[in-house]
Amino acid sequence: MVRVTDEDLALIHPLKRDPETGEPYLQLAPPYAHIVLTPQRLSDVPAVVENLNDPRIHKNLIGPPLPYFHGDAVDWLTSGRTDSEYALARIRAGKPFVEAVVTRAIRDISNSSIAEAKLIGDCCIDRHGFDDILDADLSERLDKENAAKATGDPTITWSVGDWIDPAHQGQGIMTAVIATLIREWCIPKMNTRIIFASAFMGNRASVRVFEKNGFRNLPDAPDVLQLPDAKGGGRMGLHRLEWRLEEQAREE
Ligand SMILES: CC(C)(COP(=O)(O)OP(=O)(O)OC[C@H]1O[C@@H](n2cnc3c(N)ncnc32)[C@H](O)[C@@H]1OP(=O)(O)O)[C@@H](O)C(=O)NCCC(=O)NCCS
Repeated sequence: MVRVTDEDLALIHPLKRDPETGEPYLQLAPPYAHIVLTPQRLSDVPAVVENLNDPRIHKNLIGPPLPYFHGDAVDWLTSGRTDSEYALARIRAGKPFVEAVVTRAIRDISNSSIAEAKLIGDCCIDRHGFDDILDADLSERLDKENAAKATGDPTITWSVGDWIDPAHQGQGIMTAVIATLIREWCIPKMNTRIIFASAFMGNRASVRVFEKNGFRNLPDAPDVLQLPDAKGGGRMGLHRLEWRLEEQAREE
Protein backbone atom coordinates (compact mmCIF):
# COMPACT_ATOMS: atom_id res chain seq x y z
CA MET A 1 0.00 0.00 0.00
CA VAL A 2 1.26 3.53 -0.80
CA ARG A 3 1.41 5.51 2.44
CA VAL A 4 2.13 9.07 3.51
CA THR A 5 2.82 10.64 6.90
CA ASP A 6 1.22 13.61 8.62
CA GLU A 7 4.40 15.56 7.80
CA ASP A 8 3.74 14.96 4.08
CA LEU A 9 0.30 16.57 4.23
CA ALA A 10 1.29 20.16 3.52
CA LEU A 11 3.36 19.00 0.54
CA ILE A 12 0.75 16.74 -1.02
CA HIS A 13 -2.23 19.10 -0.65
CA PRO A 14 -5.01 18.68 -1.82
CA LEU A 15 -4.56 14.99 -1.07
CA LYS A 16 -5.61 13.94 2.41
CA ARG A 17 -4.37 11.04 4.54
CA ASP A 18 -6.65 8.22 5.59
CA PRO A 19 -5.80 7.62 9.27
CA GLU A 20 -6.71 3.93 9.04
CA THR A 21 -4.50 2.99 6.10
CA GLY A 22 -2.08 5.93 5.91
CA GLU A 23 -2.93 6.20 2.22
CA PRO A 24 -3.23 9.54 0.45
CA TYR A 25 -6.68 10.09 -1.04
CA LEU A 26 -8.84 12.59 -2.84
CA GLN A 27 -12.57 12.76 -2.16
CA LEU A 28 -14.90 14.01 -4.88
CA ALA A 29 -17.20 16.97 -4.13
CA PRO A 30 -20.94 16.41 -3.62
CA PRO A 31 -22.96 14.84 -5.17
CA TYR A 32 -20.04 12.43 -5.67
CA ALA A 33 -18.67 12.53 -2.12
CA HIS A 34 -19.18 8.75 -1.93
CA ILE A 35 -16.33 8.40 -4.43
CA VAL A 36 -12.70 8.51 -3.32
CA LEU A 37 -9.51 8.20 -5.34
CA THR A 38 -6.56 6.39 -3.79
CA PRO A 39 -3.35 4.80 -5.05
CA GLN A 40 -3.71 1.32 -6.48
CA ARG A 41 -3.40 -1.62 -4.07
CA LEU A 42 -2.21 -5.18 -4.66
CA SER A 43 -5.47 -6.27 -3.05
CA ASP A 44 -7.21 -4.80 -6.14
CA VAL A 45 -6.09 -7.81 -8.22
CA PRO A 46 -9.46 -9.67 -8.14
CA ALA A 47 -11.46 -6.55 -9.08
CA VAL A 48 -9.09 -5.72 -11.93
CA VAL A 49 -9.14 -9.29 -13.27
CA GLU A 50 -12.94 -9.40 -13.09
CA ASN A 51 -13.42 -6.08 -14.88
CA LEU A 52 -10.77 -6.48 -17.56
CA ASN A 53 -12.27 -9.85 -18.55
CA ASP A 54 -15.76 -8.28 -18.78
CA PRO A 55 -16.68 -7.54 -22.41
CA ARG A 56 -18.56 -4.41 -21.33
CA ILE A 57 -15.15 -3.03 -20.34
CA HIS A 58 -12.54 -4.73 -22.55
CA LYS A 59 -14.39 -4.23 -25.83
CA ASN A 60 -13.46 -0.54 -25.62
CA LEU A 61 -9.83 -0.88 -24.46
CA ILE A 62 -6.80 -1.57 -26.67
CA GLY A 63 -4.08 -1.82 -24.02
CA PRO A 64 -4.86 -4.65 -21.60
CA PRO A 65 -4.29 -8.24 -22.77
CA LEU A 66 -7.25 -10.56 -23.23
CA PRO A 67 -7.79 -12.90 -21.49
CA TYR A 68 -6.52 -10.88 -18.55
CA PHE A 69 -4.73 -13.00 -15.95
CA HIS A 70 -3.93 -12.64 -12.25
CA GLY A 71 -0.25 -12.02 -13.14
CA ASP A 72 -1.22 -9.21 -15.55
CA ALA A 73 -3.01 -7.43 -12.71
CA VAL A 74 -0.10 -7.95 -10.31
CA ASP A 75 2.36 -6.47 -12.84
CA TRP A 76 0.08 -3.54 -13.66
CA LEU A 77 -0.71 -2.66 -10.04
CA THR A 78 2.94 -3.02 -9.02
CA SER A 79 4.04 -0.64 -11.75
CA GLY A 80 1.29 1.84 -10.77
CA ARG A 81 2.45 1.67 -7.18
CA THR A 82 6.04 2.35 -8.25
CA ASP A 83 4.90 5.41 -10.24
CA SER A 84 2.97 6.72 -7.23
CA GLU A 85 5.89 6.14 -4.85
CA TYR A 86 8.24 7.88 -7.26
CA ALA A 87 5.93 10.89 -7.56
CA LEU A 88 5.65 11.17 -3.77
CA ALA A 89 9.43 10.91 -3.42
CA ARG A 90 9.84 13.81 -5.87
CA ILE A 91 7.37 15.91 -3.90
CA ARG A 92 9.18 15.15 -0.62
CA ALA A 93 12.45 16.13 -2.32
CA GLY A 94 10.97 19.55 -3.11
CA LYS A 95 10.54 19.04 -6.87
CA PRO A 96 7.72 21.21 -8.21
CA PHE A 97 6.20 18.68 -10.61
CA VAL A 98 5.62 14.93 -10.95
CA GLU A 99 4.83 12.46 -13.75
CA ALA A 100 1.94 10.50 -12.31
CA VAL A 101 -1.53 10.70 -10.87
CA VAL A 102 -0.89 9.24 -7.41
CA THR A 103 -4.60 8.57 -6.77
CA ARG A 104 -5.92 6.86 -9.91
CA ALA A 105 -7.89 4.03 -8.26
CA ILE A 106 -11.61 4.81 -8.01
CA ARG A 107 -13.48 3.49 -4.94
CA ASP A 108 -17.05 3.76 -3.68
CA ILE A 109 -17.27 4.39 0.08
CA SER A 110 -21.10 4.36 0.25
CA ASN A 111 -21.05 1.19 2.34
CA SER A 112 -17.49 0.90 3.60
CA SER A 113 -14.47 2.68 4.96
CA ILE A 114 -11.73 3.78 2.56
CA ALA A 115 -9.65 0.86 3.82
CA GLU A 116 -12.29 -1.65 2.80
CA ALA A 117 -13.66 0.07 -0.29
CA LYS A 118 -13.48 -2.14 -3.35
CA LEU A 119 -11.95 -0.86 -6.56
CA ILE A 120 -14.67 0.23 -9.02
CA GLY A 121 -12.55 1.79 -11.76
CA ASP A 122 -9.35 3.43 -12.87
CA CYS A 123 -8.37 6.74 -14.39
CA CYS A 124 -4.84 7.13 -15.67
CA ILE A 125 -3.39 10.33 -17.09
CA ASP A 126 0.07 9.77 -18.55
CA ARG A 127 2.18 10.83 -21.52
CA HIS A 128 0.48 10.44 -24.88
CA GLY A 129 2.00 7.85 -27.22
CA PHE A 130 0.49 9.19 -30.47
CA ASP A 131 -0.94 5.79 -31.44
CA ASP A 132 -3.84 7.67 -33.06
CA ILE A 133 -1.56 8.54 -36.00
CA LEU A 134 -1.50 6.06 -38.89
CA ASP A 135 1.86 7.22 -40.30
CA ALA A 136 4.17 4.98 -38.24
CA ASP A 137 7.27 7.18 -38.65
CA LEU A 138 5.42 10.33 -37.61
CA SER A 139 3.76 8.54 -34.70
CA GLU A 140 7.14 7.28 -33.47
CA ARG A 141 8.80 10.68 -33.84
CA LEU A 142 6.05 12.50 -31.91
CA ASP A 143 6.05 9.81 -29.23
CA LYS A 144 9.84 10.11 -28.78
CA GLU A 145 9.72 13.92 -28.68
CA ASN A 146 6.94 13.87 -26.10
CA ALA A 147 8.70 11.22 -23.98
CA ALA A 148 11.98 13.18 -24.01
CA LYS A 149 10.50 16.31 -22.41
CA ALA A 150 11.45 17.02 -18.83
CA THR A 151 8.93 16.47 -16.05
CA GLY A 152 6.85 19.63 -15.69
CA ASP A 153 7.41 20.80 -19.28
CA PRO A 154 4.14 22.60 -20.14
CA THR A 155 4.29 21.42 -23.77
CA ILE A 156 3.96 17.72 -22.82
CA THR A 157 0.86 16.12 -24.35
CA TRP A 158 -0.89 13.87 -21.83
CA SER A 159 -3.58 11.30 -22.49
CA VAL A 160 -6.38 9.69 -20.51
CA GLY A 161 -7.22 6.01 -20.09
CA ASP A 162 -10.23 5.05 -18.01
CA TRP A 163 -12.77 2.41 -17.13
CA ILE A 164 -15.45 1.97 -14.53
CA ASP A 165 -17.31 -1.21 -13.59
CA PRO A 166 -20.71 -1.72 -15.22
CA ALA A 167 -22.62 -1.33 -11.94
CA HIS A 168 -21.31 2.23 -11.60
CA GLN A 169 -21.55 3.35 -15.23
CA GLY A 170 -23.96 6.08 -16.34
CA GLN A 171 -24.00 7.91 -12.98
CA GLY A 172 -21.68 10.75 -13.93
CA ILE A 173 -18.82 9.29 -11.90
CA MET A 174 -16.09 9.23 -14.56
CA THR A 175 -16.96 12.76 -15.67
CA ALA A 176 -16.49 13.94 -12.07
CA VAL A 177 -13.31 11.88 -11.58
CA ILE A 178 -11.62 13.38 -14.64
CA ALA A 179 -12.71 16.91 -13.73
CA THR A 180 -11.33 16.45 -10.21
CA LEU A 181 -8.02 14.92 -11.27
CA ILE A 182 -7.35 17.58 -13.89
CA ARG A 183 -8.18 20.45 -11.57
CA GLU A 184 -6.79 19.16 -8.28
CA TRP A 185 -3.73 17.23 -9.42
CA CYS A 186 -2.75 17.43 -13.09
CA ILE A 187 -2.69 21.21 -13.41
CA PRO A 188 -0.97 22.04 -10.13
CA LYS A 189 1.26 18.97 -9.69
CA MET A 190 2.02 17.84 -13.27
CA ASN A 191 1.85 21.24 -14.96
CA THR A 192 -0.60 19.73 -17.43
CA ARG A 193 -1.65 22.06 -20.23
CA ILE A 194 -2.57 19.71 -23.09
CA ILE A 195 -4.51 16.45 -22.82
CA PHE A 196 -5.42 14.16 -25.70
CA ALA A 197 -8.21 11.61 -25.48
CA SER A 198 -9.47 8.95 -27.84
CA ALA A 199 -12.24 6.39 -27.88
CA PHE A 200 -13.02 3.46 -30.14
CA MET A 201 -15.37 4.41 -32.97
CA GLY A 202 -18.92 4.31 -31.63
CA ASN A 203 -17.95 4.61 -27.93
CA ARG A 204 -20.25 7.58 -27.39
CA ALA A 205 -20.23 7.27 -23.58
CA SER A 206 -16.49 7.86 -23.49
CA VAL A 207 -16.67 10.76 -25.95
CA ARG A 208 -19.42 12.35 -23.84
CA VAL A 209 -17.29 12.14 -20.69
CA PHE A 210 -14.55 14.12 -22.41
CA GLU A 211 -16.94 16.62 -24.02
CA LYS A 212 -18.50 17.28 -20.62
CA ASN A 213 -14.99 18.10 -19.37
CA GLY A 214 -14.38 20.73 -22.04
CA PHE A 215 -12.49 18.54 -24.54
CA ARG A 216 -12.85 19.68 -28.16
CA ASN A 217 -13.51 17.12 -30.90
CA LEU A 218 -10.71 16.57 -33.45
CA PRO A 219 -11.23 14.74 -36.74
CA ASP A 220 -11.79 10.99 -36.32
CA ALA A 221 -8.92 8.65 -37.26
CA PRO A 222 -10.52 5.82 -39.26
CA ASP A 223 -8.97 2.32 -39.13
CA VAL A 224 -5.92 3.54 -37.22
CA LEU A 225 -5.60 0.59 -34.83
CA GLN A 226 -5.05 -3.10 -35.46
CA LEU A 227 -7.14 -5.06 -32.98
CA PRO A 228 -5.63 -8.28 -31.57
CA ASP A 229 -7.31 -11.55 -32.60
CA ALA A 230 -8.66 -11.93 -29.06
CA LYS A 231 -10.68 -8.73 -29.66
CA GLY A 232 -11.94 -9.82 -33.06
CA GLY A 233 -8.98 -8.67 -35.20
CA GLY A 234 -9.42 -6.17 -38.02
CA ARG A 235 -8.99 -2.42 -37.97
CA MET A 236 -10.58 0.03 -35.52
CA GLY A 237 -11.02 3.77 -35.88
CA LEU A 238 -10.79 6.35 -33.11
CA HIS A 239 -12.75 9.40 -32.07
CA ARG A 240 -10.17 11.96 -31.01
CA LEU A 241 -10.48 14.91 -28.63
CA GLU A 242 -8.18 17.49 -27.12
CA TRP A 243 -8.21 19.68 -24.01
CA ARG A 244 -6.04 22.78 -23.67
CA LEU A 245 -5.83 24.75 -20.44
CA GLU A 246 -5.52 28.05 -22.30
CA GLU A 247 -8.83 27.40 -24.10
CA GLN A 248 -10.56 26.53 -20.82
CA ALA A 249 -9.25 29.73 -19.25
CA ARG A 250 -10.56 31.79 -22.20
CA GLU A 251 -14.02 30.21 -21.92
CA GLU A 252 -14.36 30.88 -18.17
C1 LIG B 1 -16.72 5.25 -20.84
C2 LIG B 1 -16.91 5.17 -19.34
C3 LIG B 1 -15.54 5.33 -18.68
C4 LIG B 1 -17.83 6.30 -18.91
O1 LIG B 1 -17.91 6.34 -17.49
P1 LIG B 1 -19.29 6.75 -16.78
O2 LIG B 1 -18.99 6.99 -15.34
O3 LIG B 1 -20.32 5.75 -17.11
O4 LIG B 1 -19.60 8.12 -17.54
P2 LIG B 1 -20.61 9.29 -17.09
O5 LIG B 1 -21.77 8.67 -16.40
O6 LIG B 1 -19.81 10.32 -16.37
O7 LIG B 1 -21.05 9.89 -18.49
C5 LIG B 1 -21.50 9.05 -19.54
C6 LIG B 1 -22.18 9.89 -20.59
O8 LIG B 1 -22.32 9.14 -21.79
C7 LIG B 1 -23.69 9.05 -22.13
N1 LIG B 1 -23.88 7.74 -22.75
C8 LIG B 1 -23.78 6.53 -22.18
N2 LIG B 1 -23.99 5.58 -23.11
C9 LIG B 1 -24.22 6.23 -24.27
C10 LIG B 1 -24.52 5.81 -25.59
N3 LIG B 1 -24.59 4.52 -25.89
N4 LIG B 1 -24.70 6.76 -26.54
C11 LIG B 1 -24.60 8.07 -26.24
N5 LIG B 1 -24.32 8.53 -24.99
C12 LIG B 1 -24.14 7.61 -24.04
C13 LIG B 1 -24.43 9.21 -20.82
O9 LIG B 1 -25.77 9.60 -21.05
C14 LIG B 1 -23.58 10.33 -20.21
O10 LIG B 1 -23.78 11.58 -20.83
P3 LIG B 1 -24.81 12.69 -20.31
O11 LIG B 1 -24.39 13.05 -18.92
O12 LIG B 1 -24.68 13.80 -21.27
O13 LIG B 1 -26.17 12.05 -20.29
C15 LIG B 1 -17.56 3.82 -18.93
O14 LIG B 1 -18.76 3.66 -19.65
C16 LIG B 1 -16.65 2.63 -19.18
O15 LIG B 1 -15.86 2.26 -18.33
N6 LIG B 1 -16.80 1.99 -20.34
C17 LIG B 1 -15.98 0.81 -20.70
C18 LIG B 1 -14.52 1.15 -20.87
C19 LIG B 1 -14.33 2.38 -21.73
O16 LIG B 1 -15.03 2.60 -22.70
N7 LIG B 1 -13.34 3.20 -21.36
C20 LIG B 1 -13.00 4.38 -22.12
C21 LIG B 1 -11.96 4.03 -23.11
S1 LIG B 1 -11.61 5.43 -24.15
